[in-house]
Amino acid sequence: MSGEVMRSVVVGITGASGALYAVRTVAALLSSGARVELVVSDFGRRLLRDELGEAASVERLSEYLSNTYGDNVRAGQLVVHSNRDVGATVASGSYSCEGMVIVPCSMKTLAGVAHGLSRTLIERAADVMLKERRTLIIVPRETPMSLPQLRNMVASAEAGALVLPAMPAFYQGPRTLDDLSDFMAGKILTALDFSHELFPPWAG
Ligand SMILES: Cc1cc2nc3c(=O)[nH]c(=O)nc-3n(C[C@H](O)[C@H](O)[C@H](O)COP(=O)(O)O)c2cc1C
Repeated sequence: MSGEVMRSVVVGITGASGALYAVRTVAALLSSGARVELVVSDFGRRLLRDELGEAASVERLSEYLSNTYGDNVRAGQLVVHSNRDVGATVASGSYSCEGMVIVPCSMKTLAGVAHGLSRTLIERAADVMLKERRTLIIVPRETPMSLPQLRNMVASAEAGALVLPAMPAFYQGPRTLDDLSDFMAGKILTALDFSHELFPPWAG
């Protein structure tokens, strides 16, 4: 036994378009050997099925990830929590968990985080990250954005969150949707301080 402690990260998936970003991020974290504490909202569950098919439903996600991204994902550990269980481990600051990403983040959940509502486990875990001064990454997806939505991003950033919009870049010459999701997942892993080779660094 190496005695190495597994790094834990909460991943929240909500009902904004971009399921591919979410599954790519979860797969990359698992491949890095992380423990992923997954919380999916009701609309997030619908999103996974609508955008990726029944095979990507939460109940079958482990199998979907290894079939799609390879057996490397087995290096990590996937733990699924109910979004209704605000008494789950990740709802407490005493639980050892170094960071969280909400990907994709709906405007509704963004509003809940910005205003500290803690109505669901995703919102509560995000609140814990902010109060404990841990890394919280929000990946909002909406276009165009209303003034309240823009203000909620500012409020979240002021509270300590990193707002990392779902805005893939084209200077890497992406050819496929996987290239685009690799880029977003790579930006998220970098922000969580995980090394990765999801896209080559800009060479100037
Ligand atoms: C097909 C579909 C696509 C949606 N896309 C978005 C979106 O891109 N961004 C967003 O903020 N909300 C989007 N919504 C609306 C949210 O899913 C809705 O506000 C929901 O209540 C969010 O709840 P949650 O944050 O708990 O997942 C979409 C809804 C559906 C059914």
